[in-house]
Amino acid sequence: MTPIETLLSRVSIPRVIEPGVTGEELDLILRGGLRACDHGRLKPFRFIVLEGDARARLGHTMAEYSRSNSAEMSEEMIQATKNKALRAPTILSVIFSPKESAKISKSEQLVSAGCAAQMIVTAAHMLGLGAIWRTGEASYSSEVATMMELEKHEQVVAMIYIGRPVAEPPLPTDLDPVDFLTRL
Ligand SMILES: Cc1cc2nc3c(=O)[nH]c(=O)nc-3n(C[C@H](O)[C@H](O)[C@H](O)COP(=O)(O)O)c2cc1C
Repeated sequence: MTPIETLLSRVSIPRVIEPGVTGEELDLILRGGLRACDHGRLKPFRFIVLEGDARARLGHTMAEYSRSNSAEMSEEMIQATKNKALRAPTILSVIFSPKESAKISKSEQLVSAGCAAQMIVTAAHMLGLGAIWRTGEASYSSEVATMMELEKHEQVVAMIYIGRPVAEPPLPTDLDPVDFLTRL
């Protein structure tokens, strides 16, 4: 595949298995994240990798958050929430970590952090890995922020679940770019 064909074939892969990302893959993926467009080169983001027991602790924290914040959660649903963090061998979290700047607004910095997450998902795809960007209410909770040892000014942008695809990735939906384009 040419590089542009590889880019255009990217899809999210929810079902992945062990092994998780190798050290070499992680290095390349993070280098991809660091190539995100970034006004002022502030690098208003950082990354946290969760593997092994850290995923179990994340699942436990998300489940406890759900238990405290939803009256209608059955024990089965709580267990299912706990297991959600085990859906991939590696979770790479992108953290918005805004920098003080007189010129560059926090919202622009947040966009940069989102760009870093997209670059990571794309880099994972280019390496033949399966990846999906997930979030959800629990990911943004103060309980998860504490578990991940975030600073007060930081927040989760993405929980990127990465592993080996269990099946051949599907083809992306064929959209006509013209439907999304205005020409002035
Ligand atoms: C900020 C953000 C949060 C997302 N959160 C979730 C999520 O919690 N669960 C989920 O299944 N998909 C989530 N997605 C969407 C998937 O990552 C994916 O992009 C979507 O399913 C479309 O599939 P595709 O990437 O193959 O086009 C999120 C995407 C973004 C940008």
